[in-house]
Amino acid sequence: MSIGCGSGLFEKHFLKKLLEWNKSIHFVGVDPNKVECIKTQEWCQELSKFQPEKFTFKIHPVELEKFESSQSFDIILLIHSFYYFSEIESSFQKVYELIGEEGIAIIAVAVKTAFNLPFSYLNQRLYQRQAFYSEDLYQLFSEQNIPFRQETIEFLVNITKCFQKDSQFSKHLLDFIFGVDTTYFSPSQLQFLLDYLSSNSQKLESGEIMIPTSTSLCYFQKKEQEEEIKKENSGKFVNLISN
Ligand SMILES: C[S@@+](CC[C@H](N)C(=O)[O-])C[C@H]1O[C@@H](n2cnc3c(N)ncnc32)[C@H](O)[C@@H]1O
Repeated sequence: MSIGCGSGLFEKHFLKKLLEWNKSIHFVGVDPNKVECIKTQEWCQELSKFQPEKFTFKIHPVELEKFESSQSFDIILLIHSFYYFSEIESSFQKVYELIGEEGIAIIAVAVKTAFNLPFSYLNQRLYQRQAFYSEDLYQLFSEQNIPFRQETIEFLVNITKCFQKDSQFSKHLLDFIFGVDTTYFSPSQLQFLLDYLSSNSQKLESGEIMIPTSTSLCYFQKKEQEEEIKKENSGKFVNLISN
């Protein structure tokens, strides 16, 4: 299952890899963005045509909070969708309920860096929306006593095209980076944001402008969590999952 499957940039490669390893898959995607769901629907149809006995799927164009299922899942992916949850504890509780007894959840979420600081700030200021990052997830894991593993991947993002004046592509890129429609920004506000990006970037010899950032890849198993609860006899997470 993928929560926040979007158009499935990651999911498509992941599922193809599982099929190459001769696994049978029933894939469920959940995402409120209907346009992106259609894209996932299309590549899933291709996969199921190619391997009908090994691959079935169902895409639900709803948000996680409204998704109902009597099924549980062996693998739950949350690939860059964690930021958008309306409320971290109840959404996490829902994810937990969807994991099968031997199941695993894999969460890719950005670490707070200079690159995503304007996104958090603007979303808070303009939409009163808090974006959640790896730090929030670790805090939740620690409060709920959930054992997890994580790796941090550091990389550079090429933002050269953000600085191309009067380009539609540059506007789309800035909208994406800041998570807002920059049409409504004054030229001086836009310049302020570009200066911010520039001052946190490095210029390569090739002329490309790159900004450093990182992503955390976390995973946890329900079984390990339940063993931990038994060991420590901590009622805290039991309350969370049974309320
Ligand atoms: C950055 S995209 C990631 C898409 C996909 N996982 C990928 O790797 O290509 C994040 C997705 O989370 C979805 N999303 C936002 N709020 C959500 C919610 N409450 N429940 C489920 N998905 C949500 C968005 O619609 C968006 O498609």
